[in-house]
Amino acid sequence: MSRPSVYVTRMIPSENIDELRDHFDIEVNPDDRVLTRDELKAKVKGRDGVISLLTDTIDGEVLDAAGPQLRIVANYAVGFNNFDLDAATRRGVILTNTPGVLDDATATLTVTLMLATARRIAEADKYVRDGKWKGWAPTSFIGLDVDRKTLGIAGLGRIGKNVAHKARAFDMRIIYSDLRRDPDFEQAVGARFVDKETLLKDSDFLSLHVPLLPETRHYIGEKELKAMKRTAVLINASRGPVVDEKALVKALRAKEIWGAGLDVFENEPSLEPGLADLDNVVIVPHIASGTTETRLNMGRIAVGNVVKVLSGKAPDTCVNPDVLKT
Ligand code: DGY
Repeated sequence: MSRPSVYVTRMIPSENIDELRDHFDIEVNPDDRVLTRDELKAKVKGRDGVISLLTDTIDGEVLDAAGPQLRIVANYAVGFNNFDLDAATRRGVILTNTPGVLDDATATLTVTLMLATARRIAEADKYVRDGKWKGWAPTSFIGLDVDRKTLGIAGLGRIGKNVAHKARAFDMRIIYSDLRRDPDFEQAVGARFVDKETLLKDSDFLSLHVPLLPETRHYIGEKELKAMKRTAVLINASRGPVVDEKALVKALRAKEIWGAGLDVFENEPSLEPGLADLDNVVIVPHIASGTTETRLNMGRIAVGNVVKVLSGKAPDTCVNPDVLKT
């Protein structure tokens, strides 16, 4: 009997690929780049399972190109704004993500961006490498204290909570905004639940952890940036379109806020013109989950889900659970 066929849209850790190979006939995109839409549609044709990336749009057209035998698309990411959930549910295709295993890595990168922006690390590093350093000076690269400042968390999911716990090491005061209050979290870190207006007004550091949904697109725009303190730092390691990048460039240029630390961008991999010319922003290329252990664990979840679904079981981390009822 032939084995199920699984396509992987880009190389993931080789241990994960070996595990897939134990169970299935597999093919992996051999090129280190995102497939074009036409390539993706051609490659998924006839597959029983697909492991996709957040850069692959999985919608009705792609699912139809795969064919009616397709059972699962497993995202190698916790975010799944690249999925059309309804289109998959209508076609009986299970969609999964990789929650939990990247909370620490993402929260650590968030805190890293916060510290790097406050202490002007990227700018200072470049200064030294460019041979401009002439010795200690009392006025060079003056940054901001982080200790005992107010950290605002927008979106209290696993990653937002993790950031708050890490920030306690700096004795930061935590305020947060979310659709729901979480009394246990409030007690654990001494956090205060606030509305968005207060979050913007009172945060010294504002860290974004909302999922990308129609309601959270441009959650931070011109109006919100103007409502923030002039000494505030904005951190985004969630999804780029949560921030209006054009408005952010204007605000950073006009010094309406003090700085920003960004892991994600509105039109990755392009940056809003002018962003990379600014000194008061630290920019990294969407690397929040990029540690050896985390990427391996993300692969384990994705592969585990494919193995379960293609052997007739329910996956561990389904994001369109209605499909399991049919
Ligand atoms: C995710 O998983 O959603 C991150 O953005 C990349 O790991």
